Amino acid sequence: MPVLLVYNTILIDMSKKITIAIDGFSSTGKSTIAKLLAKKYNYVYVDTGAMYRAVSLYAKNNGYVSNDLLNSNDLVSSLNDITLVFVFNNDLGYAEIHLNGVNVEKEIRSLEISQLVSKIATISEVRKKLVHEQKLMGKEGGIVMDGRDIGTVVFPEAELKLFMTASADKRATRRYNELINRGDKVNYNEILFNVEERDRIDSTREDSPLLKADDAIEFDNSDMGINEQFERICSLVDKKISQSS
Ligand code: DC
Repeated sequence: MPVLLVYNTILIDMSKKITIAIDGFSSTGKSTIAKLLAKKYNYVYVDTGAMYRAVSLYAKNNGYVSNDLLNSNDLVSSLNDITLVFVFNNDLGYAEIHLNGVNVEKEIRSLEISQLVSKIATISEVRKKLVHEQKLMGKEGGIVMDGRDIGTVVFPEAELKLFMTASADKRATRRYNELINRGDKVNYNEILFNVEERDRIDSTREDSPLLKADDAIEFDNSDMGINEQFERICSLVDKKISQSS
């Protein structure tokens, strides 16, 4: 009796999945590039700024912030009550953040949360919890993570590190357009002030300040369109993948 062997023709991608760390100032288009990369290479995208923003929303909703004063002790005591989960949205093609079971993606992008988040991100206990979760999410590779300390603290061993910059004016204009397009009533000068203030706090805080890792590639995209950036970055990714495979 003949023995028949049937082979399924399944195409398996054998190339190594690398870790891509994208850091930089606020509104430098990190998340736009990160989402495009994740889609092209079939990687997981994690927006760590969304995690700090969600903790900020939690602090606000639980009364730990009043008249600009933050009760960080109470927030730190309740960190175990905060569960953050990224849920993939098929329509959008990327994951949205859920805070204790609720999709808060829209709420966390308000100017009010932007004005609070840098302060929340200076709290070492908050950073410790979020960095721990971020390391777990990326332990298998195949991840694109954006933030402020990804190449320096979360994945210092990442194969590709990018550091994005652009002038404060360009960044404030991008953020202003984003907020106007989603229907928020905002004032350009207020946005510019927020962008500059966040740069100052993010770069000067004691715990994990925003720093370019020594081996990060700097990208000033003040005068660079998204297509050009994406093309250049993809060739860097391809090179790293072929070196690591
Ligand atoms: O990327 P974003 O603008 O959404 O980030 C919001 C804030 O969170 C930013 O002002 C600094 C902080 N942050 C941080 O301290 N570390 C990260 N890895 C990501 C964001």
